Amino acid sequence: MVAMLVLTACGPDVAKPYTSISPESPTGDDIQSLYKLVFWLALFVFIGVQFAIVYTALRFRRNKPGPNRPPQVHGNSRLEIAWTVIPAMILLVILIPTITTMYAQDDALDEGTLEVDVYGKQWWWEVHYGEDQAQGGENLGVVTANEVVVPVGRNVVFNLYSNNVIHSFWVPRLSGKLDVVPGHENRLSITPTEAGTYYGECAEFCGTQHAWMRFTVVALEEDEFYAWVNAQRAGNPAVLANETDVPEGVAQAPAAFSLCLSCHAVNGISQGGVTGLEAPASYGPDLTNLACRESIAAGMLVNTEENRAVWIDDPGAVKPGNYMADQITPGLIRDTYGEDGFNELMDFLSSLQPAGGCDNPAAAASPVASPVASPVSEATPAG
Ligand code: CUA
Repeated sequence: MVAMLVLTACGPDVAKPYTSISPESPTGDDIQSLYKLVFWLALFVFIGVQFAIVYTALRFRRNKPGPNRPPQVHGNSRLEIAWTVIPAMILLVILIPTITTMYAQDDALDEGTLEVDVYGKQWWWEVHYGEDQAQGGENLGVVTANEVVVPVGRNVVFNLYSNNVIHSFWVPRLSGKLDVVPGHENRLSITPTEAGTYYGECAEFCGTQHAWMRFTVVALEEDEFYAWVNAQRAGNPAVLANETDVPEGVAQAPAAFSLCLSCHAVNGISQGGVTGLEAPASYGPDLTNLACRESIAAGMLVNTEENRAVWIDDPGAVKPGNYMADQITPGLIRDTYGEDGFNELMDFLSSLQPAGGCDNPAAAASPVASPVASPVSEATPAG
């Protein structure tokens, strides 16, 4: 058992994506240093207490028959002073670096270079990109869900909001937890130092599917990040099923997709009305470039064509209690639009990706010809 624990503890970090022991950000490092300090002090106290217990038990045990008891004492000033002063000193040794770290993390909020608003929903995360100092303070205006793409080495400030219940935003390898509280803005600074995918999850019980309120923070090199931004801005141009005029190179959404658009937005097709704090609980994630996401249903299913079909056929069976299940009852799409209609919808969802494909979002950075897409201004990597 111990051997197994030791073995699993030494595996690659990929195998334990929720570890907080190998941070990849300065704030994560600070928390890790505090953790180590508390750990060693706690170990010192533990060993001291165990030693005292064993010593007392052996030294004062009744080893001879008879009525003999060790001398009974009450009150010992020296001992009482010692056990008051020593813990107070240990607490002080913890308190000082804790306060320093808290202030340092607060200061990092003032040095943010990219603002990202995150809305905790039941049970997924909506992400809005705001001001980007590397673009002269321009608002990037990109909206996505559950996969937060950030540039590596930049101080990203997450502004956390909720319009429902309390959630908690936690990416163990990048930062500490921070509650997402209705009516109150909490802010968190994260500077990822290594490119990679970092796993996060909601860390505050928030209802039936709290366990499936996962997300990832994907740290990309700066040029890749802006390629992603441009691909999100370019969106997925398509005209709706009832349009008779379909421009060349623009897809036509199947009839069933209109149903999706009552709750979801896709950049280039429909902005879907309200988002963020104003969005009713029943509104769903932005689906722009959906096919490129790693997972659907907030980390519950790997995003394959097969799983998308399973999800859309009966979302309530996959993730009981979710709001989409109130609208999309079991088999509703197949019953309403037929087997062909369902398959057309699946094909269309697979097509929600940048013109150059998911592996090459840079290809979509050149403006995509579309009568419905708003003009795309080009964001460029900071020199
Ligand atoms: Cu959101 Cu738990």
